Amino acid sequence: MDDLSEAVDCLRRAGLVAFPTETVYGLGADARLDAALERLYRVKGRPGSHPVIVHVGSVEAAKACSEGFSTAAERLAGRFWPGPLTLVVRKAAWVSERVTGGQDSVAVRVPSHPLALNLLRAFGGPLAAPSANRFGRVSPTTADHVRADLDGDVDVILDGGPCSVGVESTILDVRTESPVILRPGGVTQEELEAVLGQPVPVQGTESLRVSGSLPSHYAPRARVDVVPEKDVEAAAAAQRARGARVKVLTAVDVEAHNLYASLRRADEEGAAVVVAPLPAEEGLGRAVVDRLRRAAGPR
Ligand code: TXA
Ligand code: MG
Repeated sequence: MDDLSEAVDCLRRAGLVAFPTETVYGLGADARLDAALERLYRVKGRPGSHPVIVHVGSVEAAKACSEGFSTAAERLAGRFWPGPLTLVVRKAAWVSERVTGGQDSVAVRVPSHPLALNLLRAFGGPLAAPSANRFGRVSPTTADHVRADLDGDVDVILDGGPCSVGVESTILDVRTESPVILRPGGVTQEELEAVLGQPVPVQGTESLRVSGSLPSHYAPRARVDVVPEKDVEAAAAAQRARGARVKVLTAVDVEAHNLYASLRRADEEGAAVVVAPLPAEEGLGRAVVDRLRRAAGPR
């Protein structure tokens, strides 16, 4: 049996399959099977109130998950799917509250990685899939990262090489005609605004800057210091003076497709502190800044 048939077979038996997407690796379970969802949450270590994204193979399949698809949703799906955009829509009645964290909305996306699409089409159903890391940790962008985090708890790992985008999808609430970005990601604010011809605000960036309210997430074990590029050397020197083992990241290390691998490498090298240069907050840089701030955690 080839890997894909094994994966499909496994999903039908309520198993868990890790698969590559263009953003990060996902940990997939049949979104229609309670037993599979229960195991997914257990392995992920995720609170049941935290919703997961439903991955599907076509716009039609996404519509089948939703109750009403706005004009904005229609246009964005047409332009960006398959691709790194997740749309939050009103959920169809069949979509389990286990997937939505008890809410009446569901997040759906059609990923563009060929192996993800092959899996979704061969399986023929919706896959609930969070990133294939333990809750709160750095997302995996290679099959080795998945093995390092979840080995033994996942039935099949499909290896599609390193993820090309490297940060998660953009999550956009399209339940109204004035969509709002809930998480910056692989599709940029500029691209969304160009398609919709209207401002598309990022929700929550203000509160993320409020000291103490920043949730620690996407975090390596090392402490992360994010500073303007010109201050990197001084920040590193100050940490070294305190005796800390410091890993300095370069501008290339914090490009989206390198970011998570760089943070993981810092942990492997035993760094206590990671000093990272803050990228410009535009285009994909917005997603990188968001993840670095979350990795840095509340101060
Ligand atoms: O790129 C991605 O989106 C990756 C790949 C595997 O597709 N997936 C991913 O999933 O990042 P996860 O579970 O790590 O993050 C999903 C995010 C969570 O922050 C969750 O709160 C949000 O999506 N989300 C899911 N359903 C939602 C809903 N109905 N309303 C608002 N946010 C939702
Ligand atoms: Mg995640």
